Amino acid sequence: MGIQILGIGSYVPEKILTNVDLEKMVETSDEWIKTRTGIEQRRIASAEQATSDLAYEASIKALKNANIHAEDLDAIIVASITVDQVFPSTACILQKKLGAKHAFCFDLEAACSGLLYSLEVANSLLIGNPKYKKILVLGAEKLSSIVDWEDRNTCVLFGDGAGAVILGKCEDTAENCIIASDLGANGKYTDILQIPAGGSRIPTSAETVANKQHYLTMAGSDVFKLAVNAMVGSCKKVMKEAGITAKDIKWLVPHQANYRILRAVASRLKIPEDEVYMNVNRFGNTSAASIGICLDEIVEGNLAEKGDYVLLTAFGGGLTWGAMLLKW
Ligand SMILES: CC(C)(COP(=O)(O)OP(=O)(O)OC[C@H]1O[C@@H](n2cnc3c(N)ncnc32)[C@H](O)[C@@H]1OP(=O)(O)O)[C@@H](O)C(=O)NCCC(=O)NCCS
Repeated sequence: MGIQILGIGSYVPEKILTNVDLEKMVETSDEWIKTRTGIEQRRIASAEQATSDLAYEASIKALKNANIHAEDLDAIIVASITVDQVFPSTACILQKKLGAKHAFCFDLEAACSGLLYSLEVANSLLIGNPKYKKILVLGAEKLSSIVDWEDRNTCVLFGDGAGAVILGKCEDTAENCIIASDLGANGKYTDILQIPAGGSRIPTSAETVANKQHYLTMAGSDVFKLAVNAMVGSCKKVMKEAGITAKDIKWLVPHQANYRILRAVASRLKIPEDEVYMNVNRFGNTSAASIGICLDEIVEGNLAEKGDYVLLTAFGGGLTWGAMLLKW
């Protein structure tokens, strides 16, 4: 018996916001954004769409691809920093929409590393407890709702979307698809990527709103350096644990933050650039959603074959980071 990916799905909202559109909103240029980040456009959810709505669309596709029903799910984990409400959990809201009445549900907050953290938790639940057989994991974000659209340092970077992965026990295979993983965190750097207000430390007030403390803030260049080091370190640990080298990797699938970060990670790992999956140009940074969206595109494009090694890696607020090696 092995634990396999049964289905993958993703969803991005229809509305496209281009760099040229942003030129009309803040003092920036298409050229600056492209050369510093690689981003050309991003998707923006409508006012009516919340994170659970994006997650719902991705989940429906993943369920269809897995050829199972929502009622077959034993658990739903939603990784997000843009939950519908502080509580109840977005996972519970999603459960209702899906009709996944047998699933227990919770949200997991690990910022951009959320999908990897959630896959690790789901995999451990499946390995450790015979009663769990199928778990739906989501990275879903409406980052447009926490971005200050007057701050050129951040607003050009982010987009909305959702990625869904269903992990399940398969009777007919001896292998697990997750070969090795490494997760990390360092609370020393909580302040370089954060939303300052709106929690119990600084509850929302007219003053916090006036001071824009409910928006995402970031120390961009600090994040850049820490991101590269953490992802490279985690990837190396995972490859060592699995007994493989960079040459064995079919795809490196990094969290899509910025193409310069992705290139730096690939170069330090000696993975050729054409083996690094990149769609940051089309979607920007979608935080926890980005790896799921990439995986769905790899499936759709038939870009990996059974037995290929796919190395996932992520980095985000917390700080959190990780890497996970999949055998396709
Ligand atoms: C944000 C980031 C793209 C900035 O790129 P950079 O090369 O480090 O640029 P700098 O921070 O040195 O800024 C250079 C200048 O560009 C300006 N600038 C910032 N945003 C700009 C924009 N959208 N358009 C034009 N100029 C901009 C800055 O104000 C700064 O001007 P100054 O020198 O007059 O102060 C880069 O640091 C980055 O990608 N960091 C990681 C961000 C990330 O991925 N976060 C999420 C992690 S999950």
